[in-house]
Amino acid sequence: MYIYATVLKEIETFDFINLGRKDIVMEVKDEWYRLLHPKIAFLFVVDKNVMALAWAMPVDDEAKVLAISVWKGNYTYELLEREGEFALCIPSAEMLNQVWFCGTKSGRKTDKIKALNLELEKGVKIKTPHLKNCAGFLECRVIDSISRREFGEHVIYLARVVHARANEKFFHKTWKEGADILMHVGSALFTTPSKFLKPGKRCSRKV
Ligand SMILES: Cc1cc2nc3c(=O)[nH]c(=O)nc-3n(C[C@H](O)[C@H](O)[C@H](O)COP(=O)(O)O)c2cc1C
Repeated sequence: MYIYATVLKEIETFDFINLGRKDIVMEVKDEWYRLLHPKIAFLFVVDKNVMALAWAMPVDDEAKVLAISVWKGNYTYELLEREGEFALCIPSAEMLNQVWFCGTKSGRKTDKIKALNLELEKGVKIKTPHLKNCAGFLECRVIDSISRREFGEHVIYLARVVHARANEKFFHKTWKEGADILMHVGSALFTTPSKFLKPGKRCSRKV
């Protein structure tokens, strides 16, 4: 099931017609990165600004390090360079329109927290607040960054997770089946995890 951000006036039409036909394999050009989606659509809080962020991944579980990619043109980039810490909040599907707003408007022109009436809670281990009513959040401190011209206009930040919390309704050791966390497919298209799968008993080790 796909869900659209309803705030968008002109919704792109996607050509899903051929997806069922196994014999059509086409070259993917500008949209190559969408082959790596869906990815969780985070609400990324730095100082008193929120933007949507999908490009995040764990890097080392023991060392508690993750990586995010931030475009230098974003207001959040300036804030992150100054603050060196952030909260990565995980919204549920009911926050779709807020996520879209935060991902399409800049904090340079709009106070997104005020405009959306977002409720913030005091940070636990960092001074950056996180959003109330999210499925979970991670508090992180930047430990390194990579910015090279050949990478384009994005900066990769490596950050240490200093605290993480999740709502038990959605998460217990893993996301629970049916937890409708919001995932970005591409453009104004989002989804939620629909079905959990487990490998057969013969080839699985105890987890
Ligand atoms: C679902 C979604 C995911 C996004 N992911 C990223 C991302 O990973 N990195 C990034 O730099 N921008 C990302 N963006 C774009 C920023 O959220 C957008 O440019 C935002 O307006 C920046 O706000 P700011 O100027 O207040 O920082 C995403 C947008 C959407 C809608």
